[in-house]
Amino acid sequence: MYAYPIIQFGVDHLQRVELPMLQVVPGKVLIKVHAVSLNYRDLMMVKGFYNPKMALPRIPCSDGAGEVAAIGDGVNRVRVGDRVCGIFMQRWIEGPPTAENTKAALGGDVDGMLAQYVLLDQDGVVRFPEHLSYEEAATLPCAGVTAWNALHHAGEPAHAALPGETIVIQGTGGVSIFALQFAKMLGAKVIGTSSSDEKLTRAIALGLDAGCNYKERADWSGWISEVTGGRGADRIIEVGGAGTFGQSLRATRVAGMIAQIGVLSGAATSEPLALTPILHRQLRVQGIYVGSRAMFEEMNAAIANAGMHPVIDRVFGFDQVREAFLHMESASHFGKIVIRVA
Ligand SMILES: NC(=O)c1ccc[n+]([C@@H]2O[C@H](COP(=O)([O-])OP(=O)(O)OC[C@H]3O[C@@H](n4cnc5c(N)ncnc54)[C@H](OP(=O)(O)O)[C@@H]3O)[C@@H](O)[C@H]2O)c1
Repeated sequence: MYAYPIIQFGVDHLQRVELPMLQVVPGKVLIKVHAVSLNYRDLMMVKGFYNPKMALPRIPCSDGAGEVAAIGDGVNRVRVGDRVCGIFMQRWIEGPPTAENTKAALGGDVDGMLAQYVLLDQDGVVRFPEHLSYEEAATLPCAGVTAWNALHHAGEPAHAALPGETIVIQGTGGVSIFALQFAKMLGAKVIGTSSSDEKLTRAIALGLDAGCNYKERADWSGWISEVTGGRGADRIIEVGGAGTFGQSLRATRVAGMIAQIGVLSGAATSEPLALTPILHRQLRVQGIYVGSRAMFEEMNAAIANAGMHPVIDRVFGFDQVREAFLHMESASHFGKIVIRVA
């Protein structure tokens, strides 16, 4: 079988390597991978920015979908031929996150999906909605579940968004477009920022209620104040990180929530950060780290019920892995980037 292990950090060092075929063992599921999707984390992982001390080789990518090719003794959750995804954190099945269940993340702590076959624990897989293709299903495990968690759980006990609330998305990458689709499904008003007018037009076609080009208007928190009549947003799906967090604090209503997810603009601020809005407005800043298998299954039920389709920017071939990562690095995409494996 072939895979793309990280042997040396850097997109240019990614190359297809022949590895011994995996053999199924008790409790495990052998999956023939059909498609993999990329997350910003995978790019950071491949470049060595996510965890420079990560032991190599390591097969990257948390997200993939495939068919069950064989099952080991004792496996009863899936059958041969089932169409499944791996779950991001292989041990987070349900309930709140713990130090223990948030270990074993695919494509980081353990080998990921950028391979023709993977061997996962039977508890670490979910069947995906029938109306989705393998390419579409491959987009769900990280970006989809993260957006779902940020809107419907956001901590335990859950702090779910409500119909009619104003949700802010930042940019038009994988997490943000899922958040747009899920927030519209629950009847929220969604407003968002982007570097590009053309991307904003595409987001509006998907249901975005209003958009702001943050390249043209750097103080987009002022724009959110205008759009919400001075009240501020109910919830911000924060993927920008240090470069956007200060504005997110100013853009959130009294007792609103920031679902802190990403670090697209880096992890450290270049200027002092005023934290007073957190106490004056009694904000809730909730860290989100993907989600549990139970959240994944809940999201799948909602996707099936709505007949929703994830937004795919472009599908690359298994011989175009470097191009796919470079496309992500260019940040020209809208929604998800997929690699067809089988
Ligand atoms: N905590 C978690 O569980 C979790 C899960 C998934 C992702 N993440 C993190 O969330 C972030 C987004 O991940 P992703 O996979 O969705 O990324 P992605 O698909 O690569 O999204 C990139 C897009 O974000 C926008 N963007 C870039 N810099 C920005 C900035 N400074 N402010 C606002 N928007 C910006 C751009 O869209 P426009 O051109 O439209 O502006 C860009 O195309 C990453 O930091 C990732 O590591 C965290």
